Amino acid sequence: MSSFAERNAHFDRLFATRGLFWLGQNTNHLPMHPTVRKALTDAIDAEEFHAYAPPGGFTALLDGIVADLGLPHGTTAALVTDGAVAALATVCRAYCRPQTNFVTTDPGWKWPTQFARQAGAEVREIPIYDPAAAYRLTPQQLSEAIDRDTSIVYLIDPNNPLGVCYTREEIQAFCDVARSVNAYFLHDCTYRDFADEHTLAARFYPERAITIYSFSKWLGLAGLRIGAVVTNHQIIEELAAYSTATLGASVLAQRAAQAGLAVKSEWMPAVQRVQRRNQTAIKQAVDKIPGLTVPIYPSQGNFVIVECAELGLRPEALAAVFAQRGIMIRQGSYHTPRFGSRFVKISTTVPTEWVDAFCRQLPDAIEAARGLKEIPEQY
Ligand SMILES: Cc1ncc(COP(=O)(O)O)c(C=O)c1O
Repeated sequence: MSSFAERNAHFDRLFATRGLFWLGQNTNHLPMHPTVRKALTDAIDAEEFHAYAPPGGFTALLDGIVADLGLPHGTTAALVTDGAVAALATVCRAYCRPQTNFVTTDPGWKWPTQFARQAGAEVREIPIYDPAAAYRLTPQQLSEAIDRDTSIVYLIDPNNPLGVCYTREEIQAFCDVARSVNAYFLHDCTYRDFADEHTLAARFYPERAITIYSFSKWLGLAGLRIGAVVTNHQIIEELAAYSTATLGASVLAQRAAQAGLAVKSEWMPAVQRVQRRNQTAIKQAVDKIPGLTVPIYPSQGNFVIVECAELGLRPEALAAVFAQRGIMIRQGSYHTPRFGSRFVKISTTVPTEWVDAFCRQLPDAIEAARGLKEIPEQY
């Protein structure tokens, strides 16, 4: 089987695993809000999906996204995409080309670096897995990595997988660095709703900041595929020419997203309570095992990383043992070949019973992982 076919078969098997505990993809598995359910069933009952949606998204949804970010309506525009990942692909297609470079952090999220490379750009990854620097990018590191050929600075904030979130001062400083070479500042805010505080780069660099928005994590619509790119009107005009969703994104997904925005103020505090409670449970379980640590706590995302390097344990082995037990967690190498042997990642927007099962089984799973002879391929 080709490696892509194997990867596909792997995720197909996960989907077919009844009662799987999804703790590996930062997806949100909490029962959906009744208003969102009603919006979906209403759209199905009305058979709205026979028609294509507007190419850039329903206006009410676009307005809702801009309002949710708190950006000025007059100067801000949005484009709805098939998830944040399609928004990232669109930006990379539009602005990366040979002789340009794309600057980001390691660890980070691998797909945008792939999009940038495919468009011909050189990818520069700045290592930030460093407890001495609190696992954060510094403005100085950024300014040393960029040059006149930098087309995009891509910052995931809060960072996936680390869970660090940048301060207002840091964001302002990063924007100044990007501005010094006229680079786009691609601010991936997929996890912003899980942070205690979050500052949008668009506030400081409206002329070239591009905000990436997702409905997968806070609202739990990962499988419906809906996200957006938000920036000024001129950039949206340019990006629209590169969007692959020329015939519009899913009508059903957009209706669910609109409904989610309408109940967000009620929905998010409840989600946040559960996911922070889950983070605490994981931290407590990990703290009981010498050699295992949660280096960034609380995480500002809906996940935590657990360091297992000191135990001499391969993350892949631990993930494989949990997989045998119907619990999916993520090996660090998904995010970073360089630091991936140090950690696993556990998602927290899930029912408390899932996290409690993980915590209960952790000591025994570590022993089983030590004895594991063959580790299947992980994706
Ligand atoms: C940093 C980051 N950006 C974007 C995405 C993709 O989001 P979406 O499901 O909206 O495509 C993810 C998904 O894990 C992510 O971690």
